[in-house]
Formats: sequence, C-alpha cells, structure tokens
Amino acid sequence: MARILITSALPYINGIKHLGNLAGSMLPADVFARFQRSRGNETLYICATDEHGTPAELAAAAAGQDVAAYCAEQHDLQKALAARYGLSWDWFGRSSNAPNHRLTQHFAEALEKNGLIEERTDKMVYSIDDRRFLPDRYVEGTCPHCGFEKARGDQCDNCGNLLDPVDLKDPYSVISGSRNIEVRDTRHLYLLQTKLADKIRAWVDSKSAGWPALTRGIAYKHLDEGLIDRGITRDLEWGIPVVKDGAPRPGFETKVFYVWFDAPIEYIGATVEWSEATGADWKRWWRNDEGAEDVEYVQFMGKDNVAFHTVSFPATIIGSGEPWKQVERLKAFNWLNWYGGKFSTSSKRGVFMDAALDLLPADLWRWYLSANAPEGSDTAFTWEQFQSAVNKDLADVLGNFINRIGKFNESKFEGVVPTGGEPGPLEAKLCADVAARLEDLTAQMDAIEVRKATQALRALWVLGNEYLQEAAPWTAIKTDRDRAAVVVRTALNLAALYGRVSAPFVPFAAEGICAAFGEPWPPQWPSLNVTAELSRLEPGRPVRVPDVLFPKITDDQIAEWTERFGGADEG
Ligand code: 2FM
Ligand code: ZN
Repeated sequence: MARILITSALPYINGIKHLGNLAGSMLPADVFARFQRSRGNETLYICATDEHGTPAELAAAAAGQDVAAYCAEQHDLQKALAARYGLSWDWFGRSSNAPNHRLTQHFAEALEKNGLIEERTDKMVYSIDDRRFLPDRYVEGTCPHCGFEKARGDQCDNCGNLLDPVDLKDPYSVISGSRNIEVRDTRHLYLLQTKLADKIRAWVDSKSAGWPALTRGIAYKHLDEGLIDRGITRDLEWGIPVVKDGAPRPGFETKVFYVWFDAPIEYIGATVEWSEATGADWKRWWRNDEGAEDVEYVQFMGKDNVAFHTVSFPATIIGSGEPWKQVERLKAFNWLNWYGGKFSTSSKRGVFMDAALDLLPADLWRWYLSANAPEGSDTAFTWEQFQSAVNKDLADVLGNFINRIGKFNESKFEGVVPTGGEPGPLEAKLCADVAARLEDLTAQMDAIEVRKATQALRALWVLGNEYLQEAAPWTAIKTDRDRAAVVVRTALNLAALYGRVSAPFVPFAAEGICAAFGEPWPPQWPSLNVTAELSRLEPGRPVRVPDVLFPKITDDQIAEWTERFGGADEG
C-alpha cells in the first residue's frame, strides 16, 4: 500500500471562489484523492484558506468587518460550500492558525541560522494622510509598462507585469484615495535566493522529468531569468509576526511575514492542525526522518502558482537544511475562461461556486469541469458545452444505461438479481472490452490526465448501452428466460462497476448507485479480472436503482442562464 499526500493550492479567503478556481486545483485534486483511496492507498488530502496579505485586509474593509472576524466567517463559508461539492479534504485548515505561526517563524529562524536572511532598507510607498505604508495592493496607479491607470502595486491586471509599488506613476492610496504619497525607507527581511539558486536548480533537475510540460516550462523560465533575493516581510498588521529568540524582532514590531512566505508553509501547518484534532501523526507525512521518505507528494494548482511552488517554497525548504518532504508530482492547470474573457472575482464575472449549486447538483459541475479541464491550454466555459456534457454523457449514456437495466429488471425479474443461464460469447467479448477500457482509465487516472480519464470513463459507460443493444434482453425474454437472466445479471453487475469507477468524478450519483447494489462506500477500484468483477452481485439480492440520476438541461434553461449570467456578448 502506497502513501499519497495531496495538496491543492490554498484558496484566498477574499470571497467565494469561481468555477475556474475549482477546476484548476481543488476539484482535480479531489478526483485524484478519491481514486487513490479507492485503490486502497493511504491518502491524505489537505487544503486550507490563505488568509493573510492585502487581499484579506482589503476584502474585510470592503465588507466593513474586522479582518479576523471576516476570515473566520469566510473560512466557514468556503468549507461548507466545498462539502456540498463533495471535496473530500481530510483537513481544511486556516493559514492564520497557530501551527502556521509556529512553523513560519521556525522556517525564518532556520533560514537565518543558515545565513540566508538579511535585513535590508527598502524604499516603500507611504501615505501621509493614512499614516502608514501601502504595500502591494494598498496602492494603485498608472502602470509604467502599459499606461493602464488602475494598476495594482503588485501587478498590472492589464498587461500582467509584476510590479513594485514604487514603480507606479501617479500612485494613490486604496484606503483613502489620497495622492499625498511619498517614498520612505523601511527595513525588511530578505531571503537570499541568489545563494540558493544552484541548489534549487539541482532539485528541479532531479524532479522535473516527471512534471507536465506546463510545470517544467514555468520552473525553468524562472530559473533561467535568474533568481533574485526576495522580501519576505511587509508593513502590515494582519499576518504572522516577525520574531527573534521568542520575542518580537526589534524594528519589526509593526511588520508581518509576506503572505506568499507563509501560505505554502500552511500545507504543513494544516496537517499539524489535522493531527492536533485527530491524534494522527503529521510527521510521517512531512518529515523524511520520520517516515515521509516513503510518501508520494502530489500538488495541484493553477499556472500562476507554479513559480511559487517550484522556486520560492523550495527555497524555504531547501534553505532550512532540514529533512522536509518535498513535492514529487506537480500538476498545473491553465485557465478556465468565461467565454472570451477571464472569470473575475473583483468584477463578479462568471459563475461562482455558490450560484452554480443553486442551479444544478454538484456532480454535473464536477463532470463538466473535469471533462473540460484546462490541461493542454486555456479553455472557455460556455453554457452550450456544459449542456452537452451533462445531457450527452451523464444523462444519455451513464444515467440511461443504469435506468434502463434497473427498470427492465424490475418489470421482468421482480427487481432482484436473476439466477440461471451461463455467460456466452457476447459476455466474453464484453469482459474483454471492459478490461481494455478499465486499463486505459486506470492508467489515465494514475497519470492525472483528467480529460483523458473522463474520455476513458465515458468509453467504458458506452459499452453498457452497446451490450444491451446487442444482447437485447427484451427480445430474449420472450423465448429464453435463462438467456435474458444472464444479460440482465451481467448488465446489473456492470452498472455496479460503473458506480465504483465513476465515484471520483460524480461522487453523489455514484454513492446512490453503489447503495442500490450493496457495494461498499467509499468504493474499491475494480481489478482487471473483469470476469470476477462482473459476477460480484449475489443472485436473488434486491436492486432498486435511483429514478433519475442526472437531470437533463433544457434549451430554455440555457437561454435563461445565458441571459442572467452574461457571457457570449461580453467576450
Ligand atoms: O493563488 C492563490 O489563490 C493563492 N491563494 C494560492 C496559495 S497556494 C499555497 F502556496 F498556499
Ligand atoms: Zn500594465
């Protein structure tokens, strides 16, 4: 039995996430975690809210709330929503919790002991009217690259360039709008990534053969551009305090660690939270000297997070000189766009996780977002594609097969698994076909090829309808009851197998299917001995399949939602 540690990028605390966030990290990680558990592997899937930094402070201010209260409330909202999507985290932590404070301060101290931290004097934007520094998103102004007038201090949303707040032209305070701004000196801690560049490159060289092209490309682009030393503190109140020898670090009493320094450490912090809540041992997942050497660690994230996970976080870990677990496989995703443009949290463009569930059950979204996962390139959500994925795959293929065989069995065999008859050539062919498709599906799941896995799964579902069409139990029943019994029994077994293999993608429907056939839940992934897998159901056992597994989406609904959510015309 293998041990698999899975993390998905930590969602920012600043509001409900959109479908693009779900598609690019949390959902594929959940699909993979469910698959690994069903294979019998010991699996730990960890996530948390990313609660520090200017996005959290600004969102709290916009909501008129104290930032700690805001974060607590938003964390609970995200957690409850995730449960409704079936995201099967073993723990959903908070980067503002105590374990992350301890660990972040510990890493900073270990880095300093190794000569990798330096105090430097920086020039920072200061608002005289607000009487404070304006880090990152607290200042906006005109982009020095493209002239966009609402560029944020850390990044221009128009041209995508990363910015330093002091580079903005005509800066103004986001808090008060004041342009009464000057550049002042302030002290900050720098992580000397330049000293670590060779070690980080050697580590990337050793791991990246197994990374997808997207991940590898981003990692080497950053390494080749040359690493720079990185400021890891900010002039903010909300965050993890900077300490030295157990006391506030002199000169840093009003500063905290930068959010991108502490956020990835929360992968470990959240595991400690889990361990404190359950009594489980977190070190065997994270410390190579305590058994984590045997763990396979897989990360999921959107492409904008890759540099932080292939360079910055590794710099923290490697620089500590301590035996921490590091990622083996890093699965990155492109963007899921909203028609021609981007989903946008700030301008509420697109469908968000809460609104989506008001329209339709989670399984439908999970299926669509997996079948159209933005793996090879950016992809665009459209209502028509969504309708097609739901109606043609879930309703017409999987739902139809299970319903058809279930109802036929109820009308001709009193709703119990029929006895009698011996499998013939059609069943032998079905077993061979199922084995081939199942092998493909298993390989794609292992490889975390999400789209290809959905194609393989769909191909497996199609076999059921083809078999029924060919074996025609409705004809056989008229002349040869035993033959009809064989076909129905085989098809019912196949339906039960579908419940097991579909669970990673459509867990709610799959649980209903498994329950109908008395399959254990959570399910076990089937072996390639398909003859045995298709003779599991005990003859005589009652079976009552759910009436409607997947509702069909009508053209009227599509028209209404296109109107309500906008899209096609907005490009
Ligand atoms: O991009 C984001 O949404 C970040 N909150 C991801 C953080 S991932 C990890 F490093 F914490
Ligand atoms: Zn710009």
